[in-house]
Amino acid sequence: MKQLLARSVVRALISGGGRSCNRNFSTVATARQLGNVGDLRHQHGSAFGVRNNFYSRRMSSLSSLPEKENSTSEEKKSDQEVNAVVSSYWGITRPKIKKEDGTEWPWNCFMPWDTYRADTSIDVNKHYVPKTLIDKAAFRAVKFLRVLSDLYFKERYGCHAMMLETVAAVPGMVGGMLLHLKSLRKFHHSGGWIKALLEEAENERMHLMTMVELVKPAWHERLLVLTVQGVFFNCFFVFYLLSPKMAHRFVGYLEEEAVLSYTQHLEAIESGKVENVPAPAIAIDYWRLPEDATLKDVITVIRADEAHHRDVNHFASDIHCQGKQLKDAPAPIGYH
Ligand SMILES: [Fe+2]
Ligand SMILES: [Fe+2]
Repeated sequence: MKQLLARSVVRALISGGGRSCNRNFSTVATARQLGNVGDLRHQHGSAFGVRNNFYSRRMSSLSSLPEKENSTSEEKKSDQEVNAVVSSYWGITRPKIKKEDGTEWPWNCFMPWDTYRADTSIDVNKHYVPKTLIDKAAFRAVKFLRVLSDLYFKERYGCHAMMLETVAAVPGMVGGMLLHLKSLRKFHHSGGWIKALLEEAENERMHLMTMVELVKPAWHERLLVLTVQGVFFNCFFVFYLLSPKMAHRFVGYLEEEAVLSYTQHLEAIESGKVENVPAPAIAIDYWRLPEDATLKDVITVIRADEAHHRDVNHFASDIHCQGKQLKDAPAPIGYH
């Protein structure tokens, strides 16, 4: 059992090929050189030709696309045969979803109807002034974590953002899961909050999927992610069970710090400290950005998302503070 666990950890650590946490734009550059990026992007606000609503949720990344392009016709044929066998047995086929320009939708991890234009008009300077003892404790805890993360990452903005996203995607999933279980236990609706919190988790994960196109973690950072996830998931799980009011307040403050981090990232881009490279194709499709979008545009929309998460979590905490349950207030589904 121990050997199995150790093998799994080692495999997880080396699966990234031991690349260092530096910017690595090779996947984007390769795709662009191959002329794929133009095909990967859709026209904004377009109607998509959806032929089939049922689709498999297989993960896909930009880096895998050039490989597909380079694969031999024999490999493609063999892929088709395998898929055909599986599909004919279960009746599942990959839907043919087209963009407005007639090219095939390139992503399996999200669909055209999951995309949106970020509301960048949101106030990024909003701050919830701690009022109660619980608020103050949550605020101090987040500030303490901030000091630790600043000491560790210093001015490695990309790496900081990527690592932050591995943590940020946890609370929504834990909260959504616990509300889901509560709904089953109590035989009542969640008021949409399960969906809203799971959407937040998914949105955070898409931030991560975007950042890993730009930054590759080193082995020790992968180890840190494993450790932090193991500790943070379990702590937050207990935390949410004991006090959802404080847990949401804590996340609200975490999101405030995320907004601050991305503001610093934007300042570094504007001052030339960080190169304003072209945006990854996945970001252009997910946020419906223009084809010539850059890292600055990506960070701007991610920051807007974080500001929305901030508001959602402070709102959730406020509902609890009023002695009500989340289901008593309309859930902000689709609020990005
Ligand atoms: Fe995020
Ligand atoms: Fe967030």
